[in-house]
Amino acid sequence: MSNSDVSDVSDASDPSPDRAASAYDWLGGEARVRSLVDRFYDLMDLEPGYGELRAAHGPSLSDARDKLFWFLSGWLGGPNLYIERFGHPRLRARHMPFRIGIKERDQWVACMAQAMDDEGVDAALSARLRESFMQTADWMRNQGV
Ligand code: HEM
Repeated sequence: MSNSDVSDVSDASDPSPDRAASAYDWLGGEARVRSLVDRFYDLMDLEPGYGELRAAHGPSLSDARDKLFWFLSGWLGGPNLYIERFGHPRLRARHMPFRIGIKERDQWVACMAQAMDDEGVDAALSARLRESFMQTADWMRNQGV
């Protein structure tokens, strides 16, 4: 992962409430991560603005929901649920079958930002995560446009 420091929010100068040990704790733990992922895929299904992103996925999003939840759990500094099941995420390689250009990258990040807003994620945490998601999504880009 290109930005493995996302989970480290322990900097004393950081505005995080109660100096949370990880982004996972700051977010509120397992149930909050799960509902963020559910909101993300609900929005992908509902919002016409995420049409290209939705079209890249199969008819059912239920596997994707579980996998993104397991992945984010570890990426945010909580339990490594994805790695326990599948080993190293190899996200760039796993996304090679799908077209990821600027539009898909930006739709993914915008959809996640909207989900974080809807879920009431703290603004400072949301801004920080959005930047990390953008770096990761751009690193997975396999098309110039
Ligand atoms: C930071 C950005 C992203 C993250 C963290 C992420 C994360 C993931 C994860 C963990 C999986 C499951 C991988 C597996 O085990 O098979 C997955 C699957 C997938 N991702 Fe992404 N992804 C991102 C961006 C994107 C973008 C921009 C697209 C645009 C096409 C995309 C399309 C897909 C598709 C189509 C699947 C397969 C879903 C399925 O199994 O039905 N992802 N993603």
